[in-house]
Amino acid sequence: MSLLQIDENIWCLDGDSVTMFTIPFQTRMTIIRQKNGDLWLHSTVAIDEGRINAVKKLGRVSHIIAPNSLHHLFVKDWFNHFPDSKIWVAPGLPKKLPNLEFYGILREKPESFWEDEIDQIYFEGSNILTEMIFFHKKSKTLIVTDLIQNHDPSKNNWFWKMVKGLNGVLAPNGGVPKDLRLCIRNKKLATESFKKICEWDFQRIIISHGICINNNAREFFINSFDWLDK
Ligand SMILES: [Fe+2]
Repeated sequence: MSLLQIDENIWCLDGDSVTMFTIPFQTRMTIIRQKNGDLWLHSTVAIDEGRINAVKKLGRVSHIIAPNSLHHLFVKDWFNHFPDSKIWVAPGLPKKLPNLEFYGILREKPESFWEDEIDQIYFEGSNILTEMIFFHKKSKTLIVTDLIQNHDPSKNNWFWKMVKGLNGVLAPNGGVPKDLRLCIRNKKLATESFKKICEWDFQRIIISHGICINNNAREFFINSFDWLDK
């Protein structure tokens, strides 16, 4: 169990490696503690006793965020342990998982429960990737899920290092995966989303898959979109 405090009231909890389409992904959950003591869990990792206890010590689990249509694997497990919490899902997920019970669908603007502390937008332009991007104001932290990846070379064998390097997601040269770029058909909308994110004063990026960006985060973010005509 590895809980890492990032700044005041924000932590990362690394999970197990999961496989999707045979590709190994390291997983990471972000936890924000709001001023009222509520915990906001982003991209839940696999549950176990150590992780549950670590989270319990931080506060009261109130919001469980499934930030895109792929990151929903452990949402229900966390909810079952914290049944007073609310599950929030990205647009597109209810259609994919009609049996998933949830409290609300995330929208273009932040929910009233956290709007003073966390901002959010829906990254537009793709009909496949439906991802919400978040910004924790106090710690100036941008939180992304699959949109930007920066896989750790030390956690991948030579084959996956080669594949991830070709896909543009191997640290230190991570970015928007090339396969996801191909899914972004409406580049005008994607550019608008990119510009909205740039308006946030972020100084670090928490990345769900790979090494987080703690230095020159804005430069890394802008470089990640050098393929987008802006
Ligand atoms: Fe992912």
